[in-house]
Parts: sequence; structure tokens; C-alpha cells
Amino acid sequence: MKIFLDTANIAKIKELSQTGLIDGITTNPSLLFKEGGDAKKIILEICSILPDGDISVEITKTNPDDVYKQAKEIAALSKNIIVKIPCHADYYKIINKLVIEEVPVNVTLVFTMLQSLMMAKLGVTYISPFVGRLDDLDVDGNVIISEIREMLDNYNFETELLAASIRTVREFHEAILNGADAVTMPVEIFEKSIKHILTNQGIEKFTEDWKKLGIQQFP
Ligand code: E4P
Repeated sequence: MKIFLDTANIAKIKELSQTGLIDGITTNPSLLFKEGGDAKKIILEICSILPDGDISVEITKTNPDDVYKQAKEIAALSKNIIVKIPCHADYYKIINKLVIEEVPVNVTLVFTMLQSLMMAKLGVTYISPFVGRLDDLDVDGNVIISEIREMLDNYNFETELLAASIRTVREFHEAILNGADAVTMPVEIFEKSIKHILTNQGIEKFTEDWKKLGIQQFP
């Protein structure tokens, strides 16, 4: 099970990669806009912080021919880049071409099981259904995750299911139970998910009781 951070924040990526739990990073134009500065420089730095991680970088062009050209240029930046392409019908032929040319593709902005089936049939590396954006519309995003899991298993597709647009620790928890191969989440959700108030309180109580014993050196 892979954990990705959905951020382009270098300081946080450096800090949290030290936990040994981060398998990659997903970026998008909005996340790069949030950080500001030179997007190419930021991407290259992320790739060097996690040289064995999967770093998803999204295309920014819209015309299919330009998307193909840009996808190849993005992929050439580093061996650990996965090119992110929106699941739009105009790009299907481009995605097919890129897969044939062995460019790793993460198909983003996926909202249905059928879109996922089409992408798995093309053989993309990851499909990214957006759980939180469906939940925003009162559609249970994690039901889609479980349907996609069933479909991938029914046909033995190798495409990995990457639950994206995670807004709460609960959505992360449910994505795991519904069989996501990977989950990408904002830094705050990862940080929340590795903490528990009862663990903190338990440590305080044990430390307090131990001090009362008055032992100077142990063991
Ligand atoms: C996925 O790869 C996207 O970067 C991301 O999860 C989008 O999340 P949002 O809906 O919170 O913008």
C-alpha cells in the first residue's frame, strides 16, 4: 500500500520523507501555484528528495498534440516522473500512444468506474479517482473506489488504484478498506493520521508514574 503526499511544498516533503512512509508525491498546477516560484526547479528538487518515489507531474497544455509533446518533455525531466493527464475523451488517443511508448501515466480527474475501466484497458500506471470532490457533491467518493477495485480485480488489470482528493482522515481510512493501492493526501491529513490523543495521554501518564518511582538510572 503506497502513501503519497499531495503537495509541492519542499520543506514538508523533506521533513515527512524522513518517516520512511512516503512513496511518492502528486503535484498539480494548483499545488505548484500555491508554492509560487520556478515550477520546473521545484519538480526537479522533489524528484531528488525521493529518488525511488513516484512523482506525478501534470500537463498544463490543452490541445492534444501539445499535450503529447509536453508529456514527453515532462517524462524526460527525471526517471521517477509519472505524467499526469486528465481523463478527457480528447486525450484518450494520446494516453494510448504514451502507454505504448512506455511513458508512465497517472490519469487524473477520474470520477466514474467506467472512466477507470477505459484507462485500465489502455494500461496506464495509475488511475486517480477524486474522492473528496465527489463527497463535496454528496456522492460517496469511496463507493466509487470500491467499484473500481472490483472492476480491476474482475479483469486482472495491472493499473493501480490511487485514491485522490482526500480531505479527511476518515476518507483515507475508507480508501484503504475499499482496496486502494495508493492514497494521496494533503500534508495535514498525513500528519493527523499518524497522531492519536490517547497515545499522547498514555505517554504522559507513564512518564509521570515513572518519575514518581525516583529511579535515577534505568536499566
Ligand atoms: C490528485 O492527484 C490531485 O492532486 C488532488 O488529490 C486534488 O485534490 P483536491 O480535490 O483537494 O484539489
